[in-house]
Amino acid sequence: MASTIAVLSQKGGTGKTTATRTLTDVFRRVDLRVLAVDLDPQGNLSDYLDVDPEASPTIGDVLSGRAKARSAVHDGIIPANLGLAEAELALGGKMGRELALKKALRDVSGDYDLIMIDCPPALGLLTVNALVASDHALISAEAQYFSLQGVEQALEVIELARENLNPDLEWLGVVLNIADMRTRHSREAFDSLRQHFGEKLLETTIRASIAYAESAERAVSILDYRPDLAADYLAVAEELLGRLGLDGPRRRARALANEVVGVS
Ligand SMILES: Nc1ncnc2c1ncn2[C@@H]1O[C@H](COP(=O)(O)OP(=O)(O)OP(=O)(O)O)[C@@H](O)[C@H]1O
Ligand SMILES: [Mg+2]
Repeated sequence: MASTIAVLSQKGGTGKTTATRTLTDVFRRVDLRVLAVDLDPQGNLSDYLDVDPEASPTIGDVLSGRAKARSAVHDGIIPANLGLAEAELALGGKMGRELALKKALRDVSGDYDLIMIDCPPALGLLTVNALVASDHALISAEAQYFSLQGVEQALEVIELARENLNPDLEWLGVVLNIADMRTRHSREAFDSLRQHFGEKLLETTIRASIAYAESAERAVSILDYRPDLAADYLAVAEELLGRLGLDGPRRRARALANEVVGVS
């Protein structure tokens, strides 16, 4: 059975989709079988991974019960489009509405080592579905003055999901994203997260760079587009694999970092 990781944040634009996409790429390069799930009606992850916009069925069809998850996998991703917003509305009126994704993913769980779910920028029903379907939650926090509050709100939703619907859900950690550690406000954001959340804050921060937008536009992985910057996500992947107890893949991630960036 796959381990499932939801990537979430309380606010928009914290780098969730970039993290989901890049970590999926790194995990695949260390020989894990990874399914990416786009759970955002914006469909950004589907774009990043270069899915045909007409690809069908999508996660919206899966959540509405019109398609099985396996039939919605296109090149390793279950894509999303605006139809997901409609599916979310329809789901809202149903019994067991928080469990729809969990039930749907049972169909494919045996085919993968990891399932990465990209959440929308709201802590609503879709994100709750992701948290109920997941074993782990990873919070992405942009390096801003208010990042602490955003993380606390995301944590409250994780806690609610755990108390009511998914007692096995674990908080994998929080990553400080889009950070410029040369600036005081990024450093202060890091320090306040460290103070509040201790070891839960990943040691590695993701540097801010325009190269992420450029590589997304070209649908090229940052590992190929800017190997020097890729050191950040490679190190995050290593930390996460360590936390997941996947030691073989963690060692391979280290070797990959060596190869891509020349880090030893
Ligand atoms: N490390 C980074 N440095 C600079 N820009 C970045 C970085 N990571 C992502 N971006 C850019 O920031 C924007 C938002 O990133 P992304 O789409 O990953 O965030 P998100 O949290 O998924 O957004 P949303 O909440 O809308 O889903 C994109 O233009 C992306 O290319
Ligand atoms: Mg996104």
